[in-house]
Amino acid sequence: MKLFNGMNVLNGELSISGVRVGDLKKKYRTPLYIYDENLLEKQCRIFINNFKSSKFKTEILYASKAFSCLEVLRIASREGLGVDVVSLGEIYTAIKSGFDMSKAYFHGNNKTLEELAYAIEVGVGTIVLDNDYEYEIINEIAKKNNKIIDVILRINTGIDAHTHEYIKTAKDDSKFGYSVYDDTIFDLIDDINRQSHLNFLGFHSHIGSQIFEESSFFEAVKVVMEFSKKVQDKLNIVIKVLNFGGGFGVYYTDADKPFELAEFLQRFIKVIEEESENFDLNLNKVIIEPGRSLVCNAGSTLYTVGGVKKTFAGREYVFVDGGMADNPRYALYKAEYEAAIVNKMDKEKDTVYTIAGKCCESGDMLVMDVKLPKVESGDLLLISSTGAYNYSMSSNYNRLPKLPVVFVKNGSSRLVVKGETVEDLLRNDI
Ligand code: LLP
Repeated sequence: MKLFNGMNVLNGELSISGVRVGDLKKKYRTPLYIYDENLLEKQCRIFINNFKSSKFKTEILYASKAFSCLEVLRIASREGLGVDVVSLGEIYTAIKSGFDMSKAYFHGNNKTLEELAYAIEVGVGTIVLDNDYEYEIINEIAKKNNKIIDVILRINTGIDAHTHEYIKTAKDDSKFGYSVYDDTIFDLIDDINRQSHLNFLGFHSHIGSQIFEESSFFEAVKVVMEFSKKVQDKLNIVIKVLNFGGGFGVYYTDADKPFELAEFLQRFIKVIEEESENFDLNLNKVIIEPGRSLVCNAGSTLYTVGGVKKTFAGREYVFVDGGMADNPRYALYKAEYEAAIVNKMDKEKDTVYTIAGKCCESGDMLVMDVKLPKVESGDLLLISSTGAYNYSMSSNYNRLPKLPVVFVKNGSSRLVVKGETVEDLLRNDI
């Protein structure tokens, strides 16, 4: 297992940011999500310090769908980020964390009337329009509230980024956004721009998630800018804001080769500056909205090993006290992870195991074929890089309570989300 910044091995035992992982099991429980707070802050700073320009303002939004809870949003806000929210729940969490809602961008391909009214009432800064169903509704709500709402339109560049089918978002038949190749888009933009209570600022594009080819991002910049120029010329509208989404790939296993983030961001901003000159755009602000690359590597999940079982066919299973309810990503995407036995870090890894969860489903796997030292019941097993889309996609399948979340930093730990109890599971049952 790759040891990220802050992970250390002392006397054969793993620690994170100076906290022995074994002590976290004693103090809290397993299964448990653990985040290294220094690493969260470091990632925020890499984005803030490297994605900046002298030609236009830049803004980094935290795509909170990756991991939304009060404390992570407080950190993002403190570090100077804005926030991408996609539901009433994410908006509510951002408000309660104290986020400046003028720095919030409301996304989604089917925002409900209730969500839109709420977003406008609480002062969400910008609404990212997805389709023609939305803009008239928003205009009506804005009129009623006597407000002018900043909007941008999500466009679809048709770029086929090489990533898992379920997390591509810009193919021509994607459910997200409006294709730049569909000529009716000009009427749509014209209509949006004519609404009395909407302030149309520009475009948003997000091509997918866990993308490693920087050329895909650069290509999207070009398509978006070429299109912006067309709109300016054709409709006489000034494009002031462009948002290029998130999607920057991260390391889960040594099969993943992410670009060095700081250097990539500098190249990215250069491409944006150059293309904006090529297409003669006079941009006010350029935005990106990373999720995974801000939080993924900072998070790990700690489990206790129960049974270790060899099947008749020869597969050696390690059973842990969590599973697809706290991490559905193998079941959904065949996502791969690395793992380690926390209390045997210096033992030779001589056995191939499959780590399986405790849910009643054959697909409830966490890691297939991982080399570990000989595993015994009671060992502590850690899966790394579970910081994105694990907590936020967790469920109560099999009536398993959701896990607590602990942040560690410089030798101390604190609970930031309580684990659910069995009473919590019944709180809405009548
Ligand atoms: N902006 C928009 C409009 C998005 O839809 C997303 C992710 C992001 C930003 C952030 O993308 P990121 O930087 O995290 O790649 N559940 C899947 C990932 C779904 C991504 C959804 N949209 C997974 O577990 O891999």
